[in-house]
Amino acid sequence: MEDPFQGGTAFRALGDHARENYLNFPYTEGTRQEARFLVEALGLPKGALVLDVACGLGRHEPHLPWRVVGADLSRGLLETAQARSRGEAWVQAEARSLPFRGRFQGAFSVCEGAFGLLPDDEAHVAMLRSVRACLAPGAPFLLSAMSVFAMCHDDAFDPATNVMVDAYDVDDPQGRVRRFTLATRAFAPREVLAMGRAAGFRLEALWGGVTGEYRRRPFRVDDAEMLVLFRNP
Ligand SMILES: C[S@@+](CC[C@H](N)C(=O)[O-])C[C@H]1O[C@@H](n2cnc3c(N)ncnc32)[C@H](O)[C@@H]1O
Repeated sequence: MEDPFQGGTAFRALGDHARENYLNFPYTEGTRQEARFLVEALGLPKGALVLDVACGLGRHEPHLPWRVVGADLSRGLLETAQARSRGEAWVQAEARSLPFRGRFQGAFSVCEGAFGLLPDDEAHVAMLRSVRACLAPGAPFLLSAMSVFAMCHDDAFDPATNVMVDAYDVDDPQGRVRRFTLATRAFAPREVLAMGRAAGFRLEALWGGVTGEYRRRPFRVDDAEMLVLFRNP
């Protein structure tokens, strides 16, 4: 059967096409609120070195008081990030094999920053291991993941795989439209927590929310996303 995730690279082509038009996606409207939440949740000092995993065009970075390094597969989005943000560095890298070792005081991966776009459970655990390897001892990692309890109501959701496959028409900056088919995986919290444990993380909190309304309050079944705070022991 054809892999709807294309090995975890499907979003790269969309990002390379959309570039700054990525900001037209409605879910990017909550950027400032999400950034405020990240500051509260990670609790890191001003100037801390923080990794944004699958950063896209680094939309949170301008609202964060840290030195942010963004890593992503899409060259088009990274070039856009470079042009519009400060940022320590924008690095083309696969989330499962990030090229940093123990350097970061914290990390985050939000709005399906690779997590949920990878082909299988092993790939998601590999991503979490790779993130942990980038972190200093004691460093926090905030991960968002789509909730299966919410996504299961979508017509395009397959209950056998917890995957939703949908087509999106996306403009490039010159107005040329191209259709992309994307697969997205949703999770039950216990799966994400087990994956985090398998990667060696300690669980600190499980919260719920939706883009633009990330909150430090208990996860509920009607939340679109879970917000998981892990810590590198
Ligand atoms: C939905 S976007 C989210 C981007 C960003 N986190 C945000 O909140 O705007 C998903 C991003 O994940 C990146 N991505 C997907 N699979 C990846 C992988 N295997 N390794 C690194 N980045 C990946 C895509 O290129 C894209 O920029």
